[in-house]
Amino acid sequence: MTRKIIIDCDPGQDDAVALLLAFASPEDFELLGITTVGGNVPLELTHRNARMMCDIAGHQDIPVYAGCGEPLVRPLVTAEAIHGETGINGIDAFEPETPLQDMHAVDYIVQTLLAADDASITLVPTGPLTNIGTAIDKEPKILPKIEQIVLMGGAMREGGNRTPSAEFNILVDPHAADIVLRCGRPITQLGLDVTHEVLSTRDRVERIKALGNPVAEATAGMLSFFDRFDTKKYKSRGAPLHDPCTIAWLIRPELFEGKACNVAVETESELTMGHTAVDFWHVTDRPINVNWIYAVDADGFYELLIERLARFGE
Ligand code: BDR
Ligand code: CA
Repeated sequence: MTRKIIIDCDPGQDDAVALLLAFASPEDFELLGITTVGGNVPLELTHRNARMMCDIAGHQDIPVYAGCGEPLVRPLVTAEAIHGETGINGIDAFEPETPLQDMHAVDYIVQTLLAADDASITLVPTGPLTNIGTAIDKEPKILPKIEQIVLMGGAMREGGNRTPSAEFNILVDPHAADIVLRCGRPITQLGLDVTHEVLSTRDRVERIKALGNPVAEATAGMLSFFDRFDTKKYKSRGAPLHDPCTIAWLIRPELFEGKACNVAVETESELTMGHTAVDFWHVTDRPINVNWIYAVDADGFYELLIERLARFGE
């Protein structure tokens, strides 16, 4: 089944790989557009990086939009320490041919959804939720048009990666995350509990590199850089490949296990700002709003990624 999707991202090496995995999967996705948001690096770089991925993958036809550069309430926090100053260090930056569309990403999301059939478009946010939260706030009539929202963000067992309590995407814009989590449409959420299992070990990166096509080589380059920070921080065998988990879940949900839960986000306490309170054991009567993903077959994930990246050489 081909799903209509919009990827809302802040590339970031892992967002970039999510885009490449979607490009490589035309039987699964009709990628309507890419919307970008300030996050890992400022907005001017996230839209440039998304357009670079379109160039690298030969998909200059996909429209790319720039959206919100700042979170709804709090100042922007970026993550150059992890992703490098360009956001996608590990490959050389260049000015892409893929144009930036004139329309604001939020207007694009609103217009596209309003014109769509009910429950026909899946939103895939892999950065702070500012664009999606703003679109819902601006035009709630878009809600019935959303089939589901499949997002990377949050943490339960793992604790936070940016503060002891909070995962980066949710921390950057907890107020937007709150709007999204309360929106009433089906949400599947992939947080650090699963993404920290999906490690780009040296063997896996070598296998990607060995595919020998330019897209796989760019992926291996980005992952080799991405690795440096996280392996030291977590004493792990490789950096977690967070964002492509969203696309992988849409392609092969059987690689993952999820549970229907309530997820709420902290927007007041400075100490625990952006914490996702996951009611995994149903100890409250708060309504179910999320399919919370808590387990993944990491080998299966990498087999899928490698199989799809190989297609760029065919
Ligand atoms: C998330 O934060 C960013 O650094 C990554 O791109 C990912 O979306 C992981 O916490
Ligand atoms: Ca991201």
